[in-house]
Amino acid sequence: MAIKLPPDSAARFLPENPTDLAALRDAAAGCTACPLHQLGTQTVFGEGSKRADVMLVGEQPGDAEDIAGKPFVGPAGKLLDRALKEAGIDRRKTYVTNAVKHFKWVPRGKRRIHSSPNTMEIRACNPWLKAEILAVRPRVLVCLGAIAAAAVIGPKFRVTKDRGRFVPSEFAPYVVGTIHPSMLLRLEDEESKRIEYGRLVEDLRLVHDVLAQAA
Ligand code: URA
Repeated sequence: MAIKLPPDSAARFLPENPTDLAALRDAAAGCTACPLHQLGTQTVFGEGSKRADVMLVGEQPGDAEDIAGKPFVGPAGKLLDRALKEAGIDRRKTYVTNAVKHFKWVPRGKRRIHSSPNTMEIRACNPWLKAEILAVRPRVLVCLGAIAAAAVIGPKFRVTKDRGRFVPSEFAPYVVGTIHPSMLLRLEDEESKRIEYGRLVEDLRLVHDVLAQAA
């Protein structure tokens, strides 16, 4: 009879002091809890201020991030930077990370094409995200896209229906979900792009307003 082993988890890689971001980053570099470590060039850990009021969570690193070892530095990251700026949020004062820390891709000719992480991979990686949240303790957590929202808020969250309003959460006083900026890159007509970009900025303005109230 085949013995079914439980899926592995990053929990066994956590450092002794799991609220030390530098120790977390070092430990995550050697994580082999799911098969994605064999695909990605390196672990792409979160980046930003330990005292950030805002944490932004994406899905997983893309091609550019996998090479740079930094989150949101490719085309989706450029769009995110623009939207944050327009909403009055300084990215340098945020902490930016992903639900999954390795790039999952499939080959298409010479290109590496994004492939969505599965439930097992998201779960295996979750201890890193939870540890980052506990280490930074942001006032506002922003989930970019369905995978980030599922990892932080839960599987019932629907971006189309639930975006742009704060939901109760154990992880931060204010938690909100919105679209992933890469969705804008997939839209073909300019008008839809303009409208959806505007909605993203509107959602991020909520975050700006909460921060402004606290200041
Ligand atoms: N998409 C993500 O979700 N995260 C990144 O870091 C880049 C693209």
